[in-house]
Amino acid sequence: MAMIDPETIHDVKGVSVHNVHRHDVIVVGAGLAAMRAAVEASKDYDVAVVSKVFPTRSHSGAAQGGIAASLANEEEDHWEWHMFDTVKGSDYLGDQDAIEILVKEAPIVVREYEHMGAAFSRTPDGRIAQRMFGGHTKNFGKGGPILRACYAADRTGHVLLHTLYENCVKNGVRFYPEFYVLGLIIRDNICRGVVAWDVVNGGVHIFHGKAVMFGTGGHARVYRIASISLSSTGDGQGMVLRAGLPLEDMEFLQFHPTGLYIHGILVSEAARGEGGYLINDAGERFMKKYAPEKMELAPRDVTSRAIQREIDEGRGIGGKDFVHLDLRHLGKDKIMTLLPQIHELAWKFIHVDCVKDPIPIQPTAHYSMGGIPTDSDCRVLGDGKSRPVVGFFAAGECACVSVHGANRLGTNSLLEASLFGRRAGISIVRFLRDEPELADLPTDAAAEAIAEVEGILSSSGTERVAAIRAEIQQRMTVDCAVFRSAGKLSKLLEDVRGLQERYKHIRVDDRGQDFNMDLIDAIELGRMLDLAEVMVSGALGREESRGAHSRTDFPKRDDAKWLKHTLAWKKDGKVVFDYKSVVITRFQPKERVY
Ligand code: FUM
Repeated sequence: MAMIDPETIHDVKGVSVHNVHRHDVIVVGAGLAAMRAAVEASKDYDVAVVSKVFPTRSHSGAAQGGIAASLANEEEDHWEWHMFDTVKGSDYLGDQDAIEILVKEAPIVVREYEHMGAAFSRTPDGRIAQRMFGGHTKNFGKGGPILRACYAADRTGHVLLHTLYENCVKNGVRFYPEFYVLGLIIRDNICRGVVAWDVVNGGVHIFHGKAVMFGTGGHARVYRIASISLSSTGDGQGMVLRAGLPLEDMEFLQFHPTGLYIHGILVSEAARGEGGYLINDAGERFMKKYAPEKMELAPRDVTSRAIQREIDEGRGIGGKDFVHLDLRHLGKDKIMTLLPQIHELAWKFIHVDCVKDPIPIQPTAHYSMGGIPTDSDCRVLGDGKSRPVVGFFAAGECACVSVHGANRLGTNSLLEASLFGRRAGISIVRFLRDEPELADLPTDAAAEAIAEVEGILSSSGTERVAAIRAEIQQRMTVDCAVFRSAGKLSKLLEDVRGLQERYKHIRVDDRGQDFNMDLIDAIELGRMLDLAEVMVSGALGREESRGAHSRTDFPKRDDAKWLKHTLAWKKDGKVVFDYKSVVITRFQPKERVY
């Protein structure tokens, strides 16, 4: 295969093509999964991290409440209990072989963070402190909530992200911040690198490596009311779909029960873990109707449905679309020590002092359970089932391994990102030890990416990117929400396709190359529309209610028909599906009661 000349800087249809950068490992994204993989692989190999935002601005830094591990620092705990809770929490859709890895390796991952310098909150005798979170219980669900989430006040993600960044710097990882990756270079089932846009200076760059790892984050920004950062637009999942590979379980999108009213910003479950109440317009702790034993510490799908039902049935505060999270009884000292960020966010965004007043909250799009199918060594599965794409790895929220199934437990995401990021790093090192040759770069490696950029920069349509984005986000928030039905989903699917048609006729005002955010917004939107189509098609297809996917027209879980993972491809402009079995080892599916 002919190679691109690495030194050439030339113009292709008015788009500058700059260097070809060569590294052993190209990590795309810079959140916990990506940087944990980079820390591991950089012990032995030359690693580049390519990310659209500066690494310490990655969305992982917004995670608040904690990272789960059965350390038993505060009370008795066992990985088997953690496993049971995770399987039950997943509504039995999680793959139990992967979940067993998650819960067994969790204590190792947390202790490693401690040794890397992460400043966890401490017990009085100096051990890592642990708090309660929804769905985490004692003794296989027979006991009450358990102290399992290790935390750094309510800034856990921030602390871990900075720890990893510092360790990447120490290991000599090469960072390429503000590079937006446009596409994968896969030929003959071998991943050879990625093509990226230099956001600051403009121009296409090629990153050529022996291994590519995606830790590109989630896609909940397809929603208007979302807790996730503006940058979490599912770029990695979008690229995988465009590369002709499948996505898994995309109908499962988690709604966090407590988003700050209107803004959707996360109000950590730690607030309920520390004893906060959910209150409706009648002043009632309404969770007693929905989860009498676990109350506010029921899992997120159960709690979000309870809040939405209160709102839909007119018991929101003043009949409006929010309820109250009441922390006042915790007292100022506890709030300011353990939940300082919640206090600050509520004050800055809606001018509520939660020491004195309850916080208005509503469910908010939070976490993508579905994503890029991988095996437990983080190898991306090109057929979604068993055939890895050589040299292509993924971990964290962009991936689906699947440890969360239909509903993730709080604090299992920082764990999954860190733990499978670490496993991805180990797996990449193992792969590189066999010393694969650097696969050739095809001469047309950047052709598709250049055509996309050139097409957008020279577009002369009348449609505005911001208007289409606002519409898709609003429609997803209303019609692919906590509760779904065939009627709404079918109409939404038709409308998503209409928006995809309108997208073909966009125009951007900024036609320059340097720091052109019009261009980036337009590219992100194209991927978001693809993902919305897959999510809605999957939600329409799955005629049952399981975890976060709650169909009013099919209110029951249907194990006979739907105890299986969805795989979705985009082929000839259509979404096509296949399915694969759920791995069940220790815990047989049962009715899920809290
Ligand atoms: O509520 C929270 O602090 C979020 C944690 C998580 O999503 O795991």
